[in-house]
Amino acid sequence: MLGGFETPLESSLRVGISGVSGQVESYHKLRAPHARCYIRGTPERFSMPTEESNDPLPARAPGLAARRVALGVSGGIAAYKAVEVLRGLQRAGCDVRVGMTKRACEFVTPLTFRALSGSHVVVDDYAPDNPDPIAHITFSQTVELFVVAPATANLIAKFACGVADDFLTSTYLASNAPVLIAPAMNTTMLLHPATQRNLARLRADGVRIVEPDAGEMACGTVGPGRLSDPGLIVAAALDMLRGISGSATVEGRGRDLAGEHVLVTTGATREELDPVRFISNHSSGRMGFAVAEAAHSRGASVTVVAGATSAPAPGGVRVIRALSAESMRDAVLGEVGSATVFVAAAAVADYRPAARAAEKIKKFDSSLTLSLEPTPDILAEVSRDRREGLLVIGFAAETERVVENAREKLRRKNLDAVVANDLTQDGAGFDTETNVITLLTRDREEPAALPLMSKLDAAHRILDEVVRLRRSGSQKERRK
Ligand code: PMT
Repeated sequence: MLGGFETPLESSLRVGISGVSGQVESYHKLRAPHARCYIRGTPERFSMPTEESNDPLPARAPGLAARRVALGVSGGIAAYKAVEVLRGLQRAGCDVRVGMTKRACEFVTPLTFRALSGSHVVVDDYAPDNPDPIAHITFSQTVELFVVAPATANLIAKFACGVADDFLTSTYLASNAPVLIAPAMNTTMLLHPATQRNLARLRADGVRIVEPDAGEMACGTVGPGRLSDPGLIVAAALDMLRGISGSATVEGRGRDLAGEHVLVTTGATREELDPVRFISNHSSGRMGFAVAEAAHSRGASVTVVAGATSAPAPGGVRVIRALSAESMRDAVLGEVGSATVFVAAAAVADYRPAARAAEKIKKFDSSLTLSLEPTPDILAEVSRDRREGLLVIGFAAETERVVENAREKLRRKNLDAVVANDLTQDGAGFDTETNVITLLTRDREEPAALPLMSKLDAAHRILDEVVRLRRSGSQKERRK
């Protein structure tokens, strides 16, 4: 039994696929508490690795015994953590087979995984010592879940493009099983538009992604890209085996927003002083576009009302341009009737010139005093007049007392959730690829402070709250 899982014939003969096909090697089957083991030689000559009693990974989970999981390991410094993923899955009762890329073998040897899984570890299914010449087919078609941890930028790019030039990438293409990947790479590589594009494509293809953590990387940089905690990867995998979608630990949530119409505002408004000058801010529109992209990938129909933006709009969403606060308000009120979720990510100017000069204002020697008046508060207006079923999510860009101020906005504007940006944090807020957000919701006491992550990842976290609020029906209860 090498490439795939045990067939009934193999099981009754207690031999591997090479034995069934008449070759000479036989495999003795040992049963460890949480793993099946097929080892060449006599049972007496081999012992199974024992479990450490203080291991934090989940204990045997009901209903998961003998579920067949393929674990792919690609070549990064985090490859050693795949050992913990393997052990966690085994502990839950899963039957795990391992495949590795050639580069992964430079970080951890196949022998480690073979000893722990009790099975041949496939690196190259055309290698002379591999008795199953089509292991990528037998392996892929006998598994119920394909987990890749760590998934490097290179592997993600190959998966996204359908390149099949080694065992893992061929297995990906040849398998119908759901796929869970846990990316791990240098922060710059993770945030590179190419990697983000590849991840977005995989999400759209239904691949689930356990977000990398933020922190100090092996290369010394600080940022997102570290492999997520193995316990979280195992938890996400077990959720998928149990058929639970939308797990809080999993990023690619399938089409859990199908049927929703998400209306998003994004970008900066421009409040004109005269034909050539305006008051504005540094919003790039990236955050709102990320919400739009994430919602679209999860099955929602999406409309974006965009002010001035420097980031590109995602595909598959409708974009309405509205440059001033007044025109953004008109566009939003024209669309909100058909929306089921409203996300206000735009940086709308709070004040505008009380009068717009018809001609360019001339330069005088004396100082110039501008008279400003408040703009319409689009978010407050939508929330005030909302109909039953509309979820309203606001943002709060703060430089001090972040949670306190955001909580005050949540209450005053009668919102379902507020996404607080701490503008004093590196990598957060205006015109950055990343964000550091804290989520506050009407129904939860404790704010959820999230680490530095890409704006797309942050968008998915925000939409997870939308799904949770929708499911919990807390919005209805609030109005009773
Ligand atoms: O676009 P990026 O470069 O990616 O940057 C993202 C961002 C920092 C702009 C975004 O994440 C963000 O924080 N947007 C809200 C900025 C803001 O105007 O915050 P605020 O605290 O001033 O406003 C609170 C909420 O009321 C916001 O949801 C805002 O859209 C809304 N608002 C404010 C004023 C107004 N007249 N009408 C509104 O709808």
